Amino acid sequence: MTQIKDMILKEIDKVGIRDGISETIVTTFSSNIANAAPMGIIRADKNIKIRIFKGSDTYNNILVNPFLTANIIYDPLLYVVSTFSNLNPSEFRKKDYNNIAYYPLVSSVSFVLFECRNIQEKISLLTADLIPLHYEINSNMIKAPNRGFFSVIESCIHGTRYQLTGSDKFLALIKKHENIVNKCGGTREKESFELIYKYLERTF
Ligand SMILES: Cc1cc2nc3c(=O)[nH]c(=O)nc-3n(C[C@H](O)[C@H](O)[C@H](O)COP(=O)(O)O)c2cc1C
Repeated sequence: MTQIKDMILKEIDKVGIRDGISETIVTTFSSNIANAAPMGIIRADKNIKIRIFKGSDTYNNILVNPFLTANIIYDPLLYVVSTFSNLNPSEFRKKDYNNIAYYPLVSSVSFVLFECRNIQEKISLLTADLIPLHYEINSNMIKAPNRGFFSVIESCIHGTRYQLTGSDKFLALIKKHENIVNKCGGTREKESFELIYKYLERTF
């Protein structure tokens, strides 16, 4: 078993989860409902971790069913919808690995199924070590970095902080990213950005 895990760990680079924090859309499952939310997968060589703030569905699901799938996704719209709302059930695929039901996203270019071990509940968050069990690479799509895509991701993060604090400083940061999306983004990035405004119920 340890050998299998070491082998999978060596392969994780290929799946796209490398040193540092990889932004993924994490899918979890409990009470017959699959959930998706953007989450950072924190990797330092063989050590892979996640930090999940209290109050999210992901947090609650992991305490009930300690498995998660980290999906590598290039579609900015899925980041926006899964940050501020719920993905349509048609976005999930049901799969099984050694009797573990898990739900990768249909449009993932790759994904890794992880078991959460050593779950520690702290005051406002939980931390868990992630043990890779299985991975799949679904597409060889090559995509050059697009600044508009990263601006959508950054704006999602600022948007969640704005919702939490109500602080205008996060709106100002989002406004800066709007310029980059307008300059560098494609149709999908622009559409995604509009949606962030809608979720925040604001226009600038
Ligand atoms: C790019 C990105 C990365 C995020 N990373 C994390 C994270 O590592 N941990 C966390 O608790 N929340 C993170 N968030 C915030 C959650 O995705 C957000 O709170 C979400 O609404 C939780 O959804 P859920 O209730 O369906 O789990 C991130 C958001 C974005 C946009």
